[in-house]
Amino acid sequence: MKKSFLSLLAGVLLTTCCISCADKVSTNYSVPVTRNQEGVFVTETPAKPAGQQDMLQFAAEPMENIRVGFIGLGMRGPGAVVRMMNIEGVEIAALCDVEQDRVEKVAKRVVEAGNPEPKMFYGSTDAWRELSAMPDLDLIYIATDWGTHAMMGVQGMKDGKHVAIEVPSAMNMQEIWDLINTSEQTRKHCMQLENCVYDFYELTALNMAQQGLFGEVLHTEGAYIHNLEPFWKDYWNDWRLQYNINNYGDLYPTHGLGPVCQVLDIHRGDKMNYLSAFQTKTVAIPEFIERTQGRDVTENFRNGDHTITLIKTEKGKTINIQHNVATPRPYNRMYQLTGTKGFANKYPVQGFALTKESFGGQSNVENKNHENLDGHSFVPVQMRDSLLKAYQHPIVNDELIETAKKVGGHGGMDFIMDYRLIYCLQNGLPLDMDVYDLAEWCAPIELSAISLENNSMPVEVPDFTRGAWDKLDGLKFHVKK
Ligand SMILES: NC(=O)c1ccc[n+]([C@@H]2O[C@H](COP(=O)([O-])OP(=O)(O)OC[C@H]3O[C@@H](n4cnc5c(N)ncnc54)[C@H](O)[C@@H]3O)[C@@H](O)[C@H]2O)c1
Repeated sequence: MKKSFLSLLAGVLLTTCCISCADKVSTNYSVPVTRNQEGVFVTETPAKPAGQQDMLQFAAEPMENIRVGFIGLGMRGPGAVVRMMNIEGVEIAALCDVEQDRVEKVAKRVVEAGNPEPKMFYGSTDAWRELSAMPDLDLIYIATDWGTHAMMGVQGMKDGKHVAIEVPSAMNMQEIWDLINTSEQTRKHCMQLENCVYDFYELTALNMAQQGLFGEVLHTEGAYIHNLEPFWKDYWNDWRLQYNINNYGDLYPTHGLGPVCQVLDIHRGDKMNYLSAFQTKTVAIPEFIERTQGRDVTENFRNGDHTITLIKTEKGKTINIQHNVATPRPYNRMYQLTGTKGFANKYPVQGFALTKESFGGQSNVENKNHENLDGHSFVPVQMRDSLLKAYQHPIVNDELIETAKKVGGHGGMDFIMDYRLIYCLQNGLPLDMDVYDLAEWCAPIELSAISLENNSMPVEVPDFTRGAWDKLDGLKFHVKK
């Protein structure tokens, strides 16, 4: 009797504890977080105001000439100005940075290239507001540190401009929803400047995937693995190292996630449902700081050296993204596609493994000897190179690639990104990347932190379209008819 009473009591206590765990609301995050009945952590999705339309396939009125204002002229920003100077129809209308010399140096370059002098703003962390308020500006291009991206993007759209924001454009769920709501309300483009989707290998592999060479792509991988030790000292006011010291999770997921989300048609027929994150302990960066600055930051250093985030999609696909800016390793974005008929890999070696079924009996590749296509090994290098040529993505051509390589920016992909942004604006077409791509590719930052702080428990990835993720039938890059 006593035993059964005790087990009843234990059962009641356990149930009460589980219910209170399930209902627990954390206040540590940018939006309220609860746990659902399955134990999955859920971040709050704000209700969509009545009458507010989504931005799927949104196209603005065509603009022949585009006046661009740039905010942030550190290591990244000046290259963007130079690339834009090489695109017909672009006017470098305004430049802004806190630092006067950075603005003047870039303005000089603009003038020396035969262009009118841009308006200049500098001298305070608020000077950008004057640029944003300019009446004669169409697009604001933001390349500042991470902490200012979303705030500037929101204000830019409220001031009537389209905005293009460097990666990651938003660092938490509140910033993501602010950008989505502002874009939907103002009917202004809000594009994340994710350049890696324009890398020639990724573009070609996307085209091959869309033409069915890999069959159904089931599993994908992507990463930002880049030892930043030689670069930490170069960031303005040490912002990047400080961000890694004070935060947790995959802080830079967009280069790895963007290209594979495009292959998986995320919010164009599939959606990410939930993620779980795993992380090593923190060693390398605190050791680096101790070695170079004599400071012991081990106690306060939050981020682990290597972060792995696993994501499951609605249509039963998986994504593995990784982040490591700490340990000595060769640069690696992983980029891997595992399909039912083939496989693509970018790092450390570029290769495709294909099967006879990959071509459905046809091929426009010169080497038609498919006898050795058993999927066990990469196709011969000669065939790989023929494939890369034959399946070059239709948004690029040899002439454009040559210009891109000449103008530069990570081997040319940065130029293709800027070119496509301007091309779509000039022709009144939907941009290649919309505000929901921005949201999905930035979401793992805070969502991975929630998972890591809760024993790698699953965290729901919201449907940022709020009900329209299945409305579009696959990803299309638009071209003028
Ligand atoms: N897509 C890519 O491949 C790629 C490569 C490098 C950097 N980035 C991104 O570009 C951004 C900038 O990186 P970076 O390497 O140039 O950093 P950086 O520290 O060299 O430059 C940041 C610049 O922003 C300016 N700034 C900061 N706050 C400002 C404000 N309130 N108003 C005006 N200017 C302000 C600083 O003065 C500085 O010149 C980051 O988001 C980074 O992640 C992307």
